[in-house]
Amino acid sequence: MKTEKILVSGAAGQIGSELVPALRQKYGKDNVFALYHRTVPKDAANAGVHVIGDATNKDFIEKLIREHGITTIYHLVGVLSAKGEQDPDLAYAVNMGTLKNVLDIARQLKNEGKEIKIFWPSSIAAFGPTTPRDKTPQRTILEPSTMYGVTKVAGELLVNYYFRKYALDIRSLRYPGIISWKTPPGGGTTDYAVEIFYGALKEKKYTSFLNAGTYLPMMYMDDAIRATIELMEADSSKIRIRTSYNITAVSFEPEEIAREIKKHIAEFEISYKPDFRQQIADSWPKSIDDSSARADWNWRHHFGLAEMVSDMLKNLGSIVK
Ligand code: SER
Repeated sequence: MKTEKILVSGAAGQIGSELVPALRQKYGKDNVFALYHRTVPKDAANAGVHVIGDATNKDFIEKLIREHGITTIYHLVGVLSAKGEQDPDLAYAVNMGTLKNVLDIARQLKNEGKEIKIFWPSSIAAFGPTTPRDKTPQRTILEPSTMYGVTKVAGELLVNYYFRKYALDIRSLRYPGIISWKTPPGGGTTDYAVEIFYGALKEKKYTSFLNAGTYLPMMYMDDAIRATIELMEADSSKIRIRTSYNITAVSFEPEEIAREIKKHIAEFEISYKPDFRQQIADSWPKSIDDSSARADWNWRHHFGLAEMVSDMLKNLGSIVK
């Protein structure tokens, strides 16, 4: 069997920081190159091969891929929804520019007889205020109101186009809000559901920037990592959606997660001070229909709200005092 050589961009991000170790465990630590922007996180320095560089620099990325004989890219670099509303030009440049570069490099290499498989993350942010919000279907209206969402819809169409036109093997998931304890997310709208655990453990209280009643689809990181690797390992004949797959685990609103936390920390109190992110959340689905992913490549989530909350508190509790 040919050895996989994997490149992960955005390796220090919320998903990258957990995907890299998972891939290293599976494919060997010398076969997974982590691409960091400026610095290498302390605990990652000796964990495997890494590079520091600018993911927006096409020549740099191409050289990296060629020099190391990369066969699979997890292209995770991106500016999330809330940060993207503060700097839409940056979100467009990073999210669209780097994706187009990676696709074009893969296309060039394919012309030279070298196949590269690509994973690219989409998001529930691809949906918008005109999308049906309950059990949002796989195929539906995509009219997002954020620049982040615009880059996700355009990116989905682009990867689908490159699959059809150039036969590149690109796979994608529309991640819901991801909850994790190892690396905090940055600049997202679903981040309240991570911050709430820091508030609970440090101060036994949390002021949510989303209102009570704001349902959003969510997933625990362990499930998100497994979904990503399972999608990439599935036989290509099973991948019938080449834009991006809906996936989800649970849907909840701030009051419900607070209630679940109270089962462990009785004094915990939640209060509400919604900001501009409320409007973004109100434009996204409350729940997702992921039956295509479940049927096509057998996606199953393992963590519900209760399991997720108790695992988060256990793990985060050992590092946050
Ligand atoms: N978690 C992301 C965000 O809130 C959604 O893709 O921006």
